[in-house]
Amino acid sequence: MLTTSSGSDRPRPAVAVVGAGAMGAGIAQVAAQAGHDVHLVDAREGAARAAVETLGATLRRLAGKGRVSDEDAESAAARLHPVDGDVTALPAVGLVVEAVVEDLEVKREIFAALAQTQAVDTVLASNTSSLDLTAVADGVPHPGRVIGLHFFNPPPLMRLVEVIRGRDSDRAVLDAAATLMRAWGKTPVECASTPGFIVNRVARPFYGEAQRMVADGTLDAASVDLALRAHAGFRMGPMELTDLIGQDVNLAVGTSVWEQTGHDPRYAPTDFQRELVATGRLGRKSGRGVFTYDESGTAVDAVADPDLVARLVGGPVETDPVARTLAMLVNEGVDLVHRGEASAEDVDTAMRLGTNYPQGPFAWRDALGSQTVVDWLTALDSAFPGGRYRLSPGLTEPA
Ligand code: NAI
Repeated sequence: MLTTSSGSDRPRPAVAVVGAGAMGAGIAQVAAQAGHDVHLVDAREGAARAAVETLGATLRRLAGKGRVSDEDAESAAARLHPVDGDVTALPAVGLVVEAVVEDLEVKREIFAALAQTQAVDTVLASNTSSLDLTAVADGVPHPGRVIGLHFFNPPPLMRLVEVIRGRDSDRAVLDAAATLMRAWGKTPVECASTPGFIVNRVARPFYGEAQRMVADGTLDAASVDLALRAHAGFRMGPMELTDLIGQDVNLAVGTSVWEQTGHDPRYAPTDFQRELVATGRLGRKSGRGVFTYDESGTAVDAVADPDLVARLVGGPVETDPVARTLAMLVNEGVDLVHRGEASAEDVDTAMRLGTNYPQGPFAWRDALGSQTVVDWLTALDSAFPGGRYRLSPGLTEPA
């Protein structure tokens, strides 16, 4: 049912999107612009209709700016159809993307209802960012048709889509979904249903190392940001980035990965970040996070110390924010691949597109050399014992 028609005149399969919030509406826009009829449903009365109206205005605005032609904007808007009622009111479609609240029970109910009303070859996808796909699919007859399609916010602008394979997902369904995502102009990567998938897992130490170093007084927040921008090519440092994301949002993701990995010390959230959240210092949105923001959103107190950064970078790994961060990012990426959850190529692609890193963990491993990373982690593990810095077995295996 997911066969795409690129190059032929066959109609594209209809798509349903469940949940007309930030993600669902964005996914509906992408599918409509890719030529699918899209049926949008939401539990809140009037929400689907309102989202379709907003999307029509968005498409007209894009046409006004010359980003799409007037014709394309109009035809995409005409392919968006709000549906009243619940998922049982949806017509038969080739693909359903569920993007409702992040609640396992709510999602399971929706999948159970969809399994009753849609054909057995309709692909049922969840946009969950933290729930186990296998648990979402549990009890669904023909669970091979259930996969994850993890879009990034905002879906029309973010190219990356993580295609998630649950325990029972069919290979043919995963491959067809990846092909479809390419037809939608996206770059798919595949990952097992592991906590945080690729992006939200591999990125953890980018925040965690910086928070630990600032908390123990090695350097201040603005300087850690400067070090990672100037000496590793990141567009934003971890402190300014978490202030932008929201400290609460970032802490929730980290806590979820930590809990799902049985409190693995690699992912332990920091007291530094917990305290920010507990005291309402959520970041730009609350006017104050790590930094204090003026009305224009500029951090007024982010003053780095370039001399300190120059002294620390390239010095002993324990006090070098760049070496610590890169060693941990490499270890995390290598470990994911070592466990058979994703390919090295997909890990690098996901980190470049999902988090805007200048390069992925495997490119860094190749640039630094595995032995350097092993030496750094070994030194960190003896300076800070407890398992956080343990080596991935994948780092010492032949490449
Ligand atoms: P949201 O809160 O903006 O939208 C959720 C929508 O689902 C609401 O309109 C709500 O009325 C509707 N809904 C709730 N229960 C429903 C039901 N039983 N049937 C139909 N509609 C129902 O949430 P958002 O941010 O769009 O997230 C949706 C999903 O996407 C979640 O699973 C989230 O984890 C995931 N996600 C979110 C990202 C983000 O940055 N916001 C990024 C990637 C994934």
